[in-house]
Order: sequence, then structure tokens, then C-alpha cells
Amino acid sequence: MKDKLQQLLEKATQALADSNLIDEVEALRVRFLGRKGEITTLLKTLGTLPADQRPAMGQLANEIKEKLHNRFEEARQKLAQTARQQQMASGTIDITLPGRQQFHGHTHPTSLVIDDITSIFTRMGFNIARGPEVELDYYNFEALNIPKDHPARQMQDTFYVSEDVVLRTHTSPMQIRVMEKQEPPVFVIVPGKVYRCDSDLTHTPMFHQVEGLMVDTRITFSDLKGVLTDFLHLFFNPKVKVRFRPSYFPFTEPSAEVDIACVICHGKGCRVCSHTGWLEILGCGMVDPAVYKFVNYDPEKVSGFAFGMGVERLAMLRYGIDDLRLFFGNDIRFLQQF
Ligand code: DAH
Repeated sequence: MKDKLQQLLEKATQALADSNLIDEVEALRVRFLGRKGEITTLLKTLGTLPADQRPAMGQLANEIKEKLHNRFEEARQKLAQTARQQQMASGTIDITLPGRQQFHGHTHPTSLVIDDITSIFTRMGFNIARGPEVELDYYNFEALNIPKDHPARQMQDTFYVSEDVVLRTHTSPMQIRVMEKQEPPVFVIVPGKVYRCDSDLTHTPMFHQVEGLMVDTRITFSDLKGVLTDFLHLFFNPKVKVRFRPSYFPFTEPSAEVDIACVICHGKGCRVCSHTGWLEILGCGMVDPAVYKFVNYDPEKVSGFAFGMGVERLAMLRYGIDDLRLFFGNDIRFLQQF
């Protein structure tokens, strides 16, 4: 048996020396060391030897097996390395090809503008609040002094979930929710999504607003003008002309709309400002005493102002975006420009 083992070792070593392909080496390994290989088969006859010879023979067999195993492994590694070198030398891998580009997302201009607005107001001392987009009729209309027969309640503007529940049409309901929860002083802004049943080139069923509310003792219209003028100077540029125009909202009295000189033509008149030289930017006013009644504030003791603005509109004016649909396409080539 000892001779047979030695012969097998020599046979295998010879065969290995003659083979120069990885597949051949693997075939040899199976032929000699595999489960039905020549050495394995020979070792099955170990039991037929006299008992006193078995330990020595078993040990020898193991040594030979290990030797062979190492030789096979060595040969395999050598051949693999040669193959790799040949492949590199023959240039089948073009290492000068550029890698695949990784695409990253990008912060949406709507988010950038909301971040900017909230950062300006928080620096002035305002807090940020958020509230439900599915809102009770009571908060969206009733408590904002919008009576049942007000035009804003008509079906064509409001998405009704049920008789008492709507998708909020503005962020103003948060004025009520905030005042219900806390006593003055209130300094809060509310960014968020709003919904209107309206869809054309310049309207989308969902858009974003930022609401603001400041209530304390002795807040006046001058405070409103100061805060909003400062905001517009910080958001657009420190020199932009601002004007306040009388207007009407059910929840403020008096009410105003704020315009800035057109950022495109600087007041000369162009298509963007409909040749008026002015751009309407936000609605605002002194909180109507009727609203305080709903939140148990005493209109004799407190006063304040509120404002609301459309985020997409501000973003269009700031970045010179002329098509509202770009905001909702999520085209990475568009988003990456901001
Ligand atoms: N909620 C109004 C709208 O969506 C905007 C607005 C106007 C908000 C006047 C206010 C305000 O807080 O005082 O058109």
C-alpha cells in the first residue's frame, strides 16, 4: 500500500506538471482527491491491512493527501495569476473608460425657498408650526370668519372630503389651531401644502404656502409693514421697492396686499408683471376681532397681524422660472440648477 501511495503521488505530480489550464488542474484534483478519487478509493482498503500497520499507513496517507492538496492549490493560483496577466496584457479591459456616473437627487427649489423663508422669520423670533392638510371645515373657514355663503366655499375651489372635512385651501386654519393652544404673545410661521380644485398653466391642485401670525399687546399696522418689508428685502434684495395696497380678506381688518417692483423689468412694465411694473407677493392684515372670539382672546387686550404667501410664486420670481409645471416634473436636470 505504501508503494501504491507513493506511485499515486508521483503520478499526480507528473500530471500536474503537464497541465497548464485551470480546468485541467481541477479535473486532476477530482481524479485523485475527490470523493471517488484514486487516493480516496485506495484508502478505503486501509481496513484490510493488519491492525498494527494501519496507524502508520493512515498517517502516511494523510501526509500525501495534504502534500497533493497544496500542490494543486499552488498550481491553481499560479495559473489564475498568469491568466490575469495575459488578460491585462492583451488589453481586453479598457481601464481608461470613465466609470458609471452616480446620480444624486437634489433639493427642490420649493424646499429651498421654504428653508429660506423660515430661516429669515426664525431669525426675527418667529417659531415654526405645522398642521393637518386634511382639515375641519371649522378651522379652514368658520373660525376664520368665512361665513357659509362666502364665495371661497364654493365647490369649484375646495376639495371636500365630507360635509365637515376639507383639504385645507390655505395655511390660515393654523392661525386658529395655534391660538387655541397658547396665550399671546404668538410669533409663528406655518409652511405647508394646500389644495384647490384648480388646474391650468398657472394653477396646480396642490401648492405651498407660508402663513405668519404675530399677536401680542399693542401690535400695530406699522409692525406689520416693518416685518414684511424687512422680509422682502432679505428674501429678494435690500433695495427692492415694496408697496401696500388695500384689499379684503374675511379674517383680517384692515387687509392689504403687498407688491414689489417687478424683478424682471424693475418697474418699467413687462409680460411677467402684466405691464403694471408691480408683482403681487402676499396677502396680509390686522387679525379681525371676530377671529379672536373663536379662540377666546380678548380683542380689547390683544392685537396682531397675519400674512400668507405662495411659495411656488416666490420661487418663480426669485429664480426666474417661467413655467409652474417644472416644479412638478421632478426632472433632475431642472432641479440640479438650484
Ligand atoms: N389665506 C389667504 C389665501 O390663501 C392668504 C392670506 C391673506 C393669509 C391674508 C393671511 C392674511 O394670513 O392675513 O389666499
